[in-house]
Amino acid sequence: MTQRYLVTGGAGYVGSVVAAHLLERGDRVTVLDDLSTGFAEAVPDGAEFIEGRVQDAAKWLDGSYDGVLHFAAFSQVGESVAKPEKYWDNNVGGTMALLAALRAAGVRKLVFSSTAATYGEPATVPITESAPTAPTSPYGASKLAVDHMIGGECAAHGLAAVSLRYFNVAGAYGSLGERHEPESHLIPLVLQVAQGRREAISVYGEDYPTPDGTCVRDYIHVADLAEAHLLALDAMGRDAVPAGEHLVCNLGNGSGFSVREVVETVRQVTGHPIPEITAARRPGDPAVLVASADTARERLGWTPSRPDLGAVVADAWAFARLGQEEGA
Ligand SMILES: NC(=O)c1ccc[n+]([C@@H]2O[C@H](COP(=O)([O-])OP(=O)(O)OC[C@H]3O[C@@H](n4cnc5c(N)ncnc54)[C@H](O)[C@@H]3O)[C@@H](O)[C@H]2O)c1
Repeated sequence: MTQRYLVTGGAGYVGSVVAAHLLERGDRVTVLDDLSTGFAEAVPDGAEFIEGRVQDAAKWLDGSYDGVLHFAAFSQVGESVAKPEKYWDNNVGGTMALLAALRAAGVRKLVFSSTAATYGEPATVPITESAPTAPTSPYGASKLAVDHMIGGECAAHGLAAVSLRYFNVAGAYGSLGERHEPESHLIPLVLQVAQGRREAISVYGEDYPTPDGTCVRDYIHVADLAEAHLLALDAMGRDAVPAGEHLVCNLGNGSGFSVREVVETVRQVTGHPIPEITAARRPGDPAVLVASADTARERLGWTPSRPDLGAVVADAWAFARLGQEEGA
């Protein structure tokens, strides 16, 4: 049966790809986005679009919705250190208002975009959901606070919710891809070098205890991530995640790639030499961040089907070139 979902932040990178997947399987989608970091043209065809703030969700949310997928947030780690109040206000304040709107409308299913940044420096890898949470930035702290708020809402008011803690999201889904301003994610930054929009890529630290000395991260294809959201909704629909439960799942490939491996893969995919600048370590950058996705596998039946870094980079490259052609 067709379901109706509100997608907050559906004009952004991950939200637009998930909205497209929902539409493709026949669900009805309303995107709520204030375009603070998103783009109206990223709202997929077939979705209804409301240009508005999550803080005002009660204006639009009613009992005709089967659930909400909540992507809308600010997510720049560096900016959150400089302006923590901006992150508490939008990420925590926005979600408080959204939870009140869900309660008032009687909508009882929520999927939330949490993050690996809730864990901070891991004591052991791969990181499981029972690892200590000690975020090293206001961004990570704001997302952890929201996870706690959702847990309380489920226990007290019978919401069913799944928090998905993404590791490094990458790749593109056709014409939907990553466009952050400023860009801080490695793959799009290296692709900017290949496009001649940036002279070189900075490699922060070459003396980490990793095979080639550079940081290792877990890159997950955005389309694999989208499938996890659909499975989370289905799990709530068939009561595998019942009312009152808050399930937290890490989402990653479970295998890490070093900064140097990413740069080398971009060289192979694009045929561009990609000059590197060696820079000092950045404070708070852990050596290795790799997810254990066992919970998502066991509880949601999720398996990433695009674990190959070359394929992730090729999709991101096709999207970057699309933008270049349009900008030309
Ligand atoms: N991209 C990643 O690697 C990554 C990793 C971990 C977690 N996340 C989380 O996933 C979510 C989506 O990330 P993204 O990379 O797609 O970011 P994005 O900036 O592309 O998308 C966020 C969207 O939310 C909208 N928005 C922000 N505040 C709003 C508000 N108050 N009301 C309405 N709309 C609002 C923005 O306009 C934007 O379209 C975020 O919550 C982020 O914290 C992303």
